[in-house]
Amino acid sequence: MGAAKRLRTNPRQLASDLVAKLDISDIAESVDIAGPGFLNIRLASKFLQDQLNAFTLVEPTGQPERVVVDYSSPNLAKEMHVGHLRSTVIGDAVVRTLELLGHNVLRQNHIGDWGTAFGRLLAYLDEPGQELNQDDQLQDIEKLYVEASRKFEEDAAFADRARAMVLALQTNQADAIDKWEHFMSLARAHMSETYARLDVSLQPEHIRGESSYNSDLAPLMDKLVAEGVATESDGALCIFMQEFKNKNDEIQPMIVRKSDGGFLYHTTDMAALRYRVEQLRADRILYFTDSRQVLHFEMLFAAGRLAKLVAPSVSLEHHPFGKILGKDGRPFKTRAGDNILLRDLLDEAIRRASALIESKSPHLDREEQARVAETVAIGAIKYGDLAKNRTNDYTFDWDEMLSFDGNTAPYLQYAFARVSSLFEKSGVKQSECEYPIELNTETERQLGVQLLRFQEVLEQVATDAKPHHLCAYLYELTVRFMRFYEQCPILSEADAVKLSRLALCNRMATTLQTGLDALGIRVLKRM
Ligand code: ARG
Repeated sequence: MGAAKRLRTNPRQLASDLVAKLDISDIAESVDIAGPGFLNIRLASKFLQDQLNAFTLVEPTGQPERVVVDYSSPNLAKEMHVGHLRSTVIGDAVVRTLELLGHNVLRQNHIGDWGTAFGRLLAYLDEPGQELNQDDQLQDIEKLYVEASRKFEEDAAFADRARAMVLALQTNQADAIDKWEHFMSLARAHMSETYARLDVSLQPEHIRGESSYNSDLAPLMDKLVAEGVATESDGALCIFMQEFKNKNDEIQPMIVRKSDGGFLYHTTDMAALRYRVEQLRADRILYFTDSRQVLHFEMLFAAGRLAKLVAPSVSLEHHPFGKILGKDGRPFKTRAGDNILLRDLLDEAIRRASALIESKSPHLDREEQARVAETVAIGAIKYGDLAKNRTNDYTFDWDEMLSFDGNTAPYLQYAFARVSSLFEKSGVKQSECEYPIELNTETERQLGVQLLRFQEVLEQVATDAKPHHLCAYLYELTVRFMRFYEQCPILSEADAVKLSRLALCNRMATTLQTGLDALGIRVLKRM
């Protein structure tokens, strides 16, 4: 229709001229003109069949990029809680998808491991009876943090000790640094444990915390001043950018050094940005945080460009997400109004999934039930998050995410297990099932078309960092598969049809497994 406008002709006329000249009989069964000038092209079954039989599941990109992905990045003064779930799960899915497409991904876990909160914590651990020499002293970082903060408010002498501790850390005093390092190693171990349980691909070598940029901050400030990017204002060092004005049309400066000499979240992020461009040689940098940080990243990117820390060709992308809500529509918290810790959330998921699997799968022995329950639980939590468009808030609902029906992990996992059991009955080895696929019925054709869209969906996720496209795709794939499975007999057919249909099932299972793997979710052979 756009073309018709430019040619000053009517779209239906243009469409019929086009169809008259079009020769795509090798790929299309029919081409019809519809409505005001749409062209409906119905692909030929033979063409679809050849595509399915000739092409590998995933074609690696011809232009691999170096993609830095900053995700999870918790503040470790507190224990990991449900607020860290989205960044961790969404970031990991995007990372895995990028890798599947052949990109070179550099994971960066920008943990919060520096700042005044640690002064409080370490000062509190110095209090009588609080020795931090055994692991179990750190069982409850959350409680420690709450107590330290309360004491800081209530006890002036303690507040002084906490401030002195901050100073000791900032001036690199050995004793304070030792304590901090000890605390951090325990906190990192907690974090790794959570990642392992969540089956997230972040490893210790991906940690590059805020503290690792400490010695880069002062030289960076000198550079910004020397280049006229940052200027002093009321004793603070600021970057003034025209784009950021308040209601009264005054520029809102980005403060990079406070008047007391202290650095801020912004400052560290600028140093990290520089490191990622100069040292990691990123083509793209992706950040996953909640949408409250939108302005922070807008300013960071603008300042990075202004200071020429980032070449114009480098793509800087903040991918924000909404909140997790409880069923009451308010932020998802415990009854007492506290943050829900990730380890408690995982425990509950496993408890619920175990009850479910015990009742649904009495044919499995206890041990296998437990393994299945764990895979289902983790899959359900992750998928429940990933399936929603990340820019929206979503309601955390156990019943919905653990349902065996609908756009859920158990539904997809169950379909995978079905194919495995079909192969078991068939006597054909699934891994060797490479017979030519024929799309003889409409149901098979519908399944075939969906299978062929896999690559396009992966590329979309790699571009816009929204894994819900892949979830929607896998769900539709599974719906079409179930329809096929119900309508088309397989094992009772003569060999030619039987082997083609088994090959179609196999292709579906591999696509599903590869897709779920890109989301960080495991499949099961039996459920
Ligand atoms: N630690 C921050 C938080 O918990 C998130 C860090 C995100 N990454 C970054 N480079 N700023 O809010």
